[in-house]
Amino acid sequence: MNELYAVVGNPISHSKSPRIHSLFAAQTGEPVEYTAIQAPLDGFAETVREFFAKGGKGLNVTVPFKEQAWQLADRRSERAEKAGAANTLYQDSQGRLVADNTDGAGLVTDLKVNAGITLAGRRVLVLGAGGAVRGVLGPLLAEQPGELVIANRTVAKAQGLASLFRDEAGPAELRACGFGAVNGAFDVIINGTSASLQGDLPPLPATVITPATVVYDMMYAAGDTPFNEWARAQGAGKVLDGLGMLVQQAAESFRIWRGVEPQTVPVIEELRNH
Ligand code: ATR
Repeated sequence: MNELYAVVGNPISHSKSPRIHSLFAAQTGEPVEYTAIQAPLDGFAETVREFFAKGGKGLNVTVPFKEQAWQLADRRSERAEKAGAANTLYQDSQGRLVADNTDGAGLVTDLKVNAGITLAGRRVLVLGAGGAVRGVLGPLLAEQPGELVIANRTVAKAQGLASLFRDEAGPAELRACGFGAVNGAFDVIINGTSASLQGDLPPLPATVITPATVVYDMMYAAGDTPFNEWARAQGAGKVLDGLGMLVQQAAESFRIWRGVEPQTVPVIEELRNH
């Protein structure tokens, strides 16, 4: 008998998670059935309760419910606690609802393992200071970059995140500023803004990019994202989008639920090509 998993969001019809988890299940032979559930905007908690009441084993949570998932949980992993949002839910042996956040681990694994990029000691620029960025800062800082600059349109929000993560920065210099105040060239630039949804680009000085710069847009698109198109035009050495992060965060959820680590590279390739 298959065990039931799902992703919950609103809207949900474009989610790639059912396809990703079905590929993982086929590859590993795990008895996983994974569907997509659209929860009403005012009915997330009820949807979660119903899912587990009818025997569901685990949920992924996406926009706009990640903060609600965090609030609803009886227990949270350390990384979810700090992220302020959860993308993975399951029940422990006592039936308590446990929340985790695998987004940051997904980003770091995609950068390090799939793309072979070192973050340790590097100058890293993170653009944005919303939920998506808060979700990845802990795992990024755990890689011990030499310096991490958070730049955002609303500078106060970048400053808020820098204070929140100060304790996790260790020897890394952690700074916050506006886009115009970003200085010098960076080894790695990660775009976590939603600017491209409005067809905008964060107004960065072109000097942030050199031929040695790796640019990573946490969004993904069939072609280049607007940000990555800009980065390529400035001569960035390597330009990546968030498809690998999406598959890696899914793999980390799968591992939490099933205790089995699926291979991600064939799944990333399959999604990229079809
Ligand atoms: P998410 O969950 O995707 O992080 P969010 O919490 O609403 O969503 O955060 C969106 C991020 O994209 C914020 O950093 C936002 O900047 P502000 O904090 O100044 O609002 C950034 N953003 C959204 N639209 C933008 C635009 N047109 N130009 C630059 N940054 C933008």
